Amino acid sequence: MTGLGVLVTEPWADFGLVDSGGGRKLERHGRFRFIRPEPQAMWAPASPDWRADGEFVGGSDEEGGGRWQLNSNVPDRWAMQRPTPAGPVAFWASNTPFRHLGYFPDMGAQWDWLQAAIRPGDRVLNMFGYTGVGSLVAARAGAQVTHVDASKKSVAAARENAALSGLAEAPIRWIVDDALKFLRREVRRGSRYHGLIFDPPKYGRGPDGEVWQLERDLPELVDLARQLLADDARVCVLTVYAIRLSALALQPLLEQALGPRGGRIEVGDMGVREEARGLILPTAIFARWSAL
Ligand SMILES: C[S@@+](CC[C@H](N)C(=O)[O-])C[C@H]1O[C@@H](n2cnc3c(N)ncnc32)[C@H](O)[C@@H]1O
Repeated sequence: MTGLGVLVTEPWADFGLVDSGGGRKLERHGRFRFIRPEPQAMWAPASPDWRADGEFVGGSDEEGGGRWQLNSNVPDRWAMQRPTPAGPVAFWASNTPFRHLGYFPDMGAQWDWLQAAIRPGDRVLNMFGYTGVGSLVAARAGAQVTHVDASKKSVAAARENAALSGLAEAPIRWIVDDALKFLRREVRRGSRYHGLIFDPPKYGRGPDGEVWQLERDLPELVDLARQLLADDARVCVLTVYAIRLSALALQPLLEQALGPRGGRIEVGDMGVREEARGLILPTAIFARWSAL
C-alpha cells in the first residue's frame, strides 16, 4: 500500500518558525530568534519587522559560504529540549558555519513517528546521525542504538547531547565511519536491525575521504538497508534535503527493495508549521517503510 503525504512538524516550547517570506525565515531556537535564508519562502512575510538576535547572511545555497551576524548576547551554545512521548531529549544548539543550528527541527514529526513504532530492546541504526537527536529519541524509547557519522566532531557532539539528556549510560554505540563502508561490513557480518534511520546529505565525505554522492549512492544504500532489516523489523526512514529530487522518485526505490515485505510505504514532503499564519514551509522529502 502506498500513500503520498505531507509530514508537518508543529512548533514546540523550544522551537518555532515564527514568520517567513521574502526568501527568508525567522525562527525561535530556545530563547534566541534567528533569521536564515529560505529560497522557498517566496511569499510576503506576515510582519514587516522581525526582531532577531542574529542573521545568517550571504551564501547562495547550503554549502555556498555566508556567515552569521550575531548580537553580543548570543553564547557559543545553549541547551534546548525536544519533548517526546517517552520523555524529553536535550541537546546543545549553536550557530554553525553551514547556517545550521546544530540540529534539524523539521525532523520532529519523523522522530515522533519513529519513536511510536519502535519497542524497548529494538536495535536501531541512525546513519548520518549528526548530533544525535534522532539517536536520543530512539534511546528514550528503550532501543539499543547504533549511531554512525563520518564526522568525529558530530559524534562527539552527539555524545555530549546524550550526557545532557541523562542518557550517557544508555545502550548507544557511537561510530565514526563512512556510511556505505559501515553498511557493507554490517551485511557481511549478518547484523540485523528493527529500525533504520537514514538522513544523508546531498554530498559528503567519509573519514578517509570516501565520497558520498546521493543520486549515485542511494540505490546501494537502500539495497543494503533491505539486507539489514530483521525479519521482525518495524521501520525504515529515509529523509533527503537540499536536492532537486521529488519524493515520488524515492517511491519505486523503496517499493522494489521493501515492497515484498508487505507493510506500508509512504513518501512525501516534510515541512514546518509557521506560527504567524499556520502555513507550511517545505524543508525536505522523505520515504519510509513500516511493518504496520
Ligand atoms: C543532514 S546531516 C544529518 C542530520 C541528522 N540526521 C539529524 O537529524 O540531526 C548529514 C550528516 O551526514 C554526515 N556524512 C556526510 N558524508 C558521510 C559519509 N560518507 N558517511 C557517513 N556520514 C556522512 C555528515 O557528517 C552529517 O553529520
